[in-house]
Amino acid sequence: MTTLLLSTTEQDLERAAAIIQAGGLVGIPTETVYGLGANGLDPEAVRKIFLAKGRPQDNPLILHIHDAAQLPDFCRDIPDAARLLAETYWPGPLTMVLPVRDVVPKTTTAGLNTVAVRCPDNDATREIIRLAGVPVAAPSANLSGKPSTTTARHVLHDMDGRIDAVVDGGPCRVGVESTIVDLTGPVPRLLRPGGIGPEELTALLGELEIDRAVTGEISREAVVRAPGMKYKHYAPAAEVLIVEGSREAAARYIRARFQPGDAVLCFEEELDLYADCNPTAYGREAEPATLSAGLFAALRRLDGGEVQRIFARCPTGGGISVATRNRLRKSAGFRTVTAEED
Ligand code: TXA
Ligand code: MG
Repeated sequence: MTTLLLSTTEQDLERAAAIIQAGGLVGIPTETVYGLGANGLDPEAVRKIFLAKGRPQDNPLILHIHDAAQLPDFCRDIPDAARLLAETYWPGPLTMVLPVRDVVPKTTTAGLNTVAVRCPDNDATREIIRLAGVPVAAPSANLSGKPSTTTARHVLHDMDGRIDAVVDGGPCRVGVESTIVDLTGPVPRLLRPGGIGPEELTALLGELEIDRAVTGEISREAVVRAPGMKYKHYAPAAEVLIVEGSREAAARYIRARFQPGDAVLCFEEELDLYADCNPTAYGREAEPATLSAGLFAALRRLDGGEVQRIFARCPTGGGISVATRNRLRKSAGFRTVTAEED
């Protein structure tokens, strides 16, 4: 199959919508990461997504809608908290988990009685969904286990020949996947941190439970028991080690251990400290949104093959940094050290 590279002209958006209607796969831009979209109501089309990504069948997909008003078409028992979240953040980087209606096939929800729904903040993709006339099921458009894609070029790198088309909508603004909130229980529950920070959600909703998967506590225990792999995601070929601690202590730690074949993933403010240590900056520590926006592209740059070990610097703090930290820790398989102060 030849993968078409489409633009965001109305004519190309119509072509993308027609491919989705016909049961094909299209890479779609969103404000978070690129998605791998198919007709979310067509089990055959959805099955192709799992094949193209190499994704386990038991991992459900997010259903993308073009307007919040579509939510009741696919979900039942929508609580006030969900309406408030939709009003406040849609279109935007928020996904809600709600009880599913029968119209959504089991292939999309992996057999769960809930469905994840999101209205993305990208005009081209909302137009594609509107023109297609069906909700679009879309996971991140990367090979399973690899960093998510934030440019059309990255989508082609992973998916060329496996999908019908990709729409180039430029680089993604947020850069990490959406915040996921489960609204099926008595208290809203954060399942995945993303573009909208936990503090903001708590302030809006009054209460928010944080799933242990968010902080990685469970995973860390699991990794101790079964070293390494089970929870590895977003991972370049190289081994990633997060080095926490002050700028100076971390630089001492890393510089003392740096060997040929290693690389350093750091903040722009730190580039000088690692001049002879193959540094890549993924954003500015002083502007946390640049770190989330740049993380996956930087991990992909370091995935060239020669780099065997990456020492990574990780932001502290709340808001979007919770998501950046979560993704970086997963890419590191939760391997973290704290550099000792002098
Ligand atoms: O920003 C995003 O959310 C991107 C863009 C393309 O919209 N999509 C994305 O999809 O990140 P994916 O498939 O890479 O991640 C979706 C996550 C998975 O961890 C999946 O297990 C979870 O959402 N999920 C989907 N349906 C769910 C459900 N019913 N209950 C709980 N988790 C669910
Ligand atoms: Mg993904």
